[in-house]
This record gives sequence, structure tokens and C-alpha cells, in this order.
Amino acid sequence: MPSRFWWTTFDVADLLPQGWQCDVMAVAADADVRDFPRTPVLTREAADVAHVKRGRVHADQVKQGLPWLRDLYRGPFLDLANLASAEKPVVAAADDRYGVVLNVQRGTSMRFECHVDSNPLTGLLFFTEHEKGGELVVGHDESAQSVEEIEKDHSDIRPQAGHLAFIDGRNQPHYARPLTRDSDVRVLAVMNYYTESCPESTRPPELNRHRFGDD
Ligand SMILES: [Fe+2]
Repeated sequence: MPSRFWWTTFDVADLLPQGWQCDVMAVAADADVRDFPRTPVLTREAADVAHVKRGRVHADQVKQGLPWLRDLYRGPFLDLANLASAEKPVVAAADDRYGVVLNVQRGTSMRFECHVDSNPLTGLLFFTEHEKGGELVVGHDESAQSVEEIEKDHSDIRPQAGHLAFIDGRNQPHYARPLTRDSDVRVLAVMNYYTESCPESTRPPELNRHRFGDD
């Protein structure tokens, strides 16, 4: 039987502090926006795609600007991750550099790279919602290797502000569609969780070299 993709969503708006929209948009305004090179090991972009333009708020900026998000990641959201996961216990990342980051897309020229995840459970907390565009598109074909191939057969997760979705993105290639309006901004938090059968120590070292210049 072919593997089937599924996900779990929780409405966590009541767990977010008052004024979270302002806090998030202020931090997202300082996103590192540029052409990001293909991610080693995990990319599922077509061979001719060298870069994808997108925005990233790095973990240290999140820690500084949204301290409540880091607390939710290690507290209430971790409890929900344990509800969503077949394998328990789920644990948060010990390394603060990749526990929680924000992905930011502005206007119609950005999207997120086609890739698979290395961690067994990812929490996606959407801070914005959009009439059309900005969907997380998850390909059903595990061998899909481009936007076109993912779009042939897929499930879409539509951003809804205040909703937290948990996915196991290790096998199904996924990416985020561009927005459809120039004035639109898409922001979500990406949170990495781990399990005993797929611990943090299995994170490919090439990723840390690529992102943080580690040896
Ligand atoms: Fe992912």
C-alpha cells in the first residue's frame, strides 16, 4: 500500500499572549530575506534550481524577540506534539539554533524550497492567513523532485492564523506556494521535535555546516 500523508491541527490561539500579532510582525520585519542556496541532503528542488528567495528569522532572533514562543515550544506545544505523535515521548531540540525559527514570504516572488524534513515531527504555527496562495503543499509521491512533480498529486495545508499543525515530513516532499498579492506577508513558526527512534543526533551534520558554518 502506498504511504498516506496525514497531519494533525490544533487551534492554539488561546495560548498566544495578548498582542502576539504585533510582536510577530515586528520580528518578521527583520527577517533575513535573500536567495537561499539549495539545502544539502534534504532539497527536492529540480536540478536547475540553485536558489530560492525567501525570508528567515533565525532562532537567536526568535529567542530575543519572541521569548513566549520559545516557552510555548518547550511547554504547551510539546504536550500537543506528544498527543499528535504515534511514538512517545516527543522531545524538543536541545540545540537552540534550530528549535524554533520563522519562515517569512513577502509578495509574489518568494516561496519555500521543495524539501523533506530530517526530524520526525515538525510543528508549524501559522501567524497569518491568505485568501489564496501560501499553502503548504505536500506531495504524495515520495520521489517528487520539483514544484511541478509535487503539484501533480498533493495535499494542501492552508495557513490559518493561530493554528498549529504537526507533520511528519521525512518522506513526502513539500514546499510553500508563493502568495498571490504583492502586499501580502506570510509568517509561520517552524518547530523541530524529535523521538527516541529519530533523535536529534541523526540531524545531518551537513545541515549545521550549511546553516551555521559548523565544523
Ligand atoms: Fe519541512
